[in-house]
Amino acid sequence: MEQLLRNFFLFLSKNRFFTKLAKRYGLRFGAGKFVAGETVPAAVQTIQELNEQGMSVTIDHLGEFIDSEQEAREAADGCIDAIKAIAEHNLDSQLSLKLTSMGLDISEKVVMENMRRILDVAEEKDVFVTIDMEDHERCEKTLSIFKELRSEYEHIGTVLQSYLYRTVEDIEDLNQYNPNLRLVKGAYKESPKVAFPDKKDVDENLKKIIKMHLLNGNYTAVASHDDAMIEFTKRLVEEKDIPKDQFEFQMLYGIRTERQAELVAEGYKMRVYVPYGNDWYGYFMRRLAERPANVAFVLKGVFGK
Ligand code: FDA
Repeated sequence: MEQLLRNFFLFLSKNRFFTKLAKRYGLRFGAGKFVAGETVPAAVQTIQELNEQGMSVTIDHLGEFIDSEQEAREAADGCIDAIKAIAEHNLDSQLSLKLTSMGLDISEKVVMENMRRILDVAEEKDVFVTIDMEDHERCEKTLSIFKELRSEYEHIGTVLQSYLYRTVEDIEDLNQYNPNLRLVKGAYKESPKVAFPDKKDVDENLKKIIKMHLLNGNYTAVASHDDAMIEFTKRLVEEKDIPKDQFEFQMLYGIRTERQAELVAEGYKMRVYVPYGNDWYGYFMRRLAERPANVAFVLKGVFGK
């Protein structure tokens, strides 16, 4: 039943019609639990609150399916506004973005133009940018764009997903760039041809790549709500004497907030991924797919508290 619900929400997350409808009608159905608001000022307020609690942030200007160059340019402008707001308010925040919202599916020229525009401002304002990883179909393209941009800019990192068979090789291949990588399990529906179908293999592979990347001496963001991954990382860094400024934990806004506070209290760097914007639908559906128990929030949103 849980698997069925999971597939259902992942199926819904790709629906362009609902994506467009959601943009028009604003945050609904309890999405506010996972999304900080629709505007930069709303996001700034949330970042300030989290910073006051000792947490760093990466802000994500929500956006996926883009149909035109104009929309991609607007999404890039949104990222630039967010970077400027981070600098202006002196916030402890980075920026995350998805290449599809920058025009990845339109053309390489469009996506590179938008990324360079963003990264020019990011370098100037000293704000780090992470390229989120999307579905497997776009993984190769995303990594090749990352490599090209990494050779031009300092303030750029990306994400690798432990559910993909290819990821161990990607860790090895990217090592020459000394990349700052966020390591995750992976949030999309993938075929067993490209991704481990069993969760225990995904979990083991995440431990494996965390270890590889840390021991390669690279900055590692362990982005997981799973205590097993957190405990594994804590043990490893202690055993191998890895300094606290070579890694951080990351979690999503609104998920396991008490655990986030505990990690801060224990002296670890904790970064919260804070999405904002009106393109909240796909993100929200993927969060429901991860934990169908969250559907309770949706029902509350629909039928009132
Ligand atoms: P897992 O799914 O095994 O969950 C462990 C425990 O965490 C659960 O038992 C539950 O208690 C809690 N939990 C997990 N998800 C929850 C939820 N939605 N609501 C409430 N509780 C929940 N993916 C991707 O493909 N590309 C990307 O770029 C990113 N970026 C990213 C950034 C950050 C900061 C995080 C934390 C995650 C991502 N992800 C991602 C998502 C990631 O791939 C994965 O889908 C989720 O983190 C869920 O996996 P966990 O590692 O948390 O463990």
